[in-house]
Amino acid sequence: MSEAEDPPSPKGIPLLGNGLSFSKDPVGAMESWADHGDLVHLHFMGESMYLVTHPELIKQILVEKQHKFTIGPEQQDTFEGVEDNAMTTATGERWKRLRRAAHPAFTRESITNYGDRMAAVTARFVDEWDDGEEVALHPEMHRLTVQILAETLLNEDIRGQEDVVIDAADAFIARTNFRRPGQLLPDWIPTPTERRFRRAIQRLDTFVDDLIAERQAAETDVSEDVCAMLLGAYKDGELSLAEVRHNLVAFLMAGHESPSGALTRVWYLLDDHPDVYESLCEEYNRVVTGDRPTIEEYTDLEYTQHVVAETLRLYPPTTGINRQATGPVMLDGYELPAGAQFLIPQWVPHRDERFWEDPETFDPDRWAANVDRPEYAYFPFSGGPRGCIGNDFARQELTLALATMVGRVDLDVTTDGPLTFIPSIQLRPATKITAVVRQSTQ
Ligand code: HEM
Repeated sequence: MSEAEDPPSPKGIPLLGNGLSFSKDPVGAMESWADHGDLVHLHFMGESMYLVTHPELIKQILVEKQHKFTIGPEQQDTFEGVEDNAMTTATGERWKRLRRAAHPAFTRESITNYGDRMAAVTARFVDEWDDGEEVALHPEMHRLTVQILAETLLNEDIRGQEDVVIDAADAFIARTNFRRPGQLLPDWIPTPTERRFRRAIQRLDTFVDDLIAERQAAETDVSEDVCAMLLGAYKDGELSLAEVRHNLVAFLMAGHESPSGALTRVWYLLDDHPDVYESLCEEYNRVVTGDRPTIEEYTDLEYTQHVVAETLRLYPPTTGINRQATGPVMLDGYELPAGAQFLIPQWVPHRDERFWEDPETFDPDRWAANVDRPEYAYFPFSGGPRGCIGNDFARQELTLALATMVGRVDLDVTTDGPLTFIPSIQLRPATKITAVVRQSTQ
C-alpha cells in the first residue's frame, strides 16, 4: 500500500494543465508523464484523468476488475452526434445487447469466410496502380480498407463512394484534434470544423439509411451480412432502427480507420528495413501457390503475421483506451474515487524496456521467440469483454492484404524522418507519407 494519498502528478501549466504538452506532442507527452510512475494523475483543463501504463494495472482495469469500470463520459462526448446509439458508446445491459446482435458477423467461421475476399479486393486495388506512380499512402490505404470492409461485412461493392466514409472519419479526427482552434468553444457554435463535421456525418447517415432501406426492401437473408443480421435483430425487437444505423456507422468508421493506419505504417517501416521486405517475399514465394494468398494459406504466413504484430506494437493505431470507475476503486495501492477517469495508452507499455528488448527497434523476429512477458505489455486491440470486436477480422485482413501487396509491388516510401502525430483519439501521423509504386520483380 502506498504511503501517498494521490498518485504522482506531472506539472502542467495553469488552466490547460497537462493538455498543452499533449497537444504539442501526444506520444512524447505520454512517455514523459509515465516517467513519474505506472499510475499518474493528470489534469486537462480542469478535468482529472489517471494515466495507467503498467501491464498488471492495465489487466486489472480491463479484465480482473472490469466490472468496476465502464467507458467514461469522455468517450460518449467524443462520439456524440455520430454513434450515440452504437455499442461504442453504450454501457451495461444495452451494450451487451448491442454486442450480442453483431457477434455472429465476427465468429471465427464468419471471419474465415471473408478471407479470400480480403485478398481479392486488395489484388484488384493494387493492380490499378501504375508502375512508377506516386501515391499518397494513407488516403490509398483508407480507400482499400473501406472497400475490404464493405465487400466482406456488408457484402456491398461501394467503389466510387468510399469518400462518404473517409470524409466522415477525417472530419471526426479533425474535430477531436486537441490542437484545433475553437476546441474550447461549445459544439453549437458553427466553427468551420464543426460545420464540416456535421456535413460529413449527415452524408454518412444518409448513406447508411439508404443501405438499410435497400436491404429492408430486398428482405435479404439474415445470414448474408452484418446489415441483414442487425435488421434481423430489429425485426425480432432486440434492436431499434437507430441502433442498427449507428452500429453500421461504428463498423464503417472503426473498421477502416485503424487498419488503414496500420497498413500505411507497415510500408513506412519496410522502407527502412529491406531485409524484412526480403523475408516477406521469401515467405510469399514459399507459401502462396496462386496469384494471391488464400484463406487456407493464412496460418502459414507466419512471418507476415509477425510483421503485422510488430507494426501494431511500434505504432498502435489508437491513442489509448478510456475507462471510468463506477465506484471507489483500489489501484496500485491508491484508493481512487468513484467517477475517476482513466487513459490507458498502448504506446508506452508497447515500448517499455522493462518488457521489451530494444523496444525502439522494428524486429518482427521477436514474435518467433517465446519470451515471458506480462500479457498486457501488448494490447493494440485492448482486451477483456469490451476489447475490439474486430480484433480477429483486422489481424487476418492486415496479414492477407500485406501478403497480397508484397506479391505484386514494392512501395518506395519517399517520406523520411520520424513520424509526428495528430493529438487525437487515433494516432494518425501528421506527416504525409508518399510512396512510389514498383511492380514486384519476383
Ligand atoms: C488494426 C485494427 C484495429 C485496432 C488496433 C482496433 C483497436 C480497438 C480498440 C483499442 C478498441 C477499444 C476497446 C476498449 O474500449 O476496450 C476498439 C473498439 C472497437 N473496434 Fe476496433 N480496432 C481495429 C479494427 C477494427 C475493425 C476491423 C472493426 C470492425 C470491423 C472494429 C470495430 C470496433 C468496434 C465496434 C469497437 C467498439 C467495441 C465495444 O465497445 O464493444 N475495429 N478497437
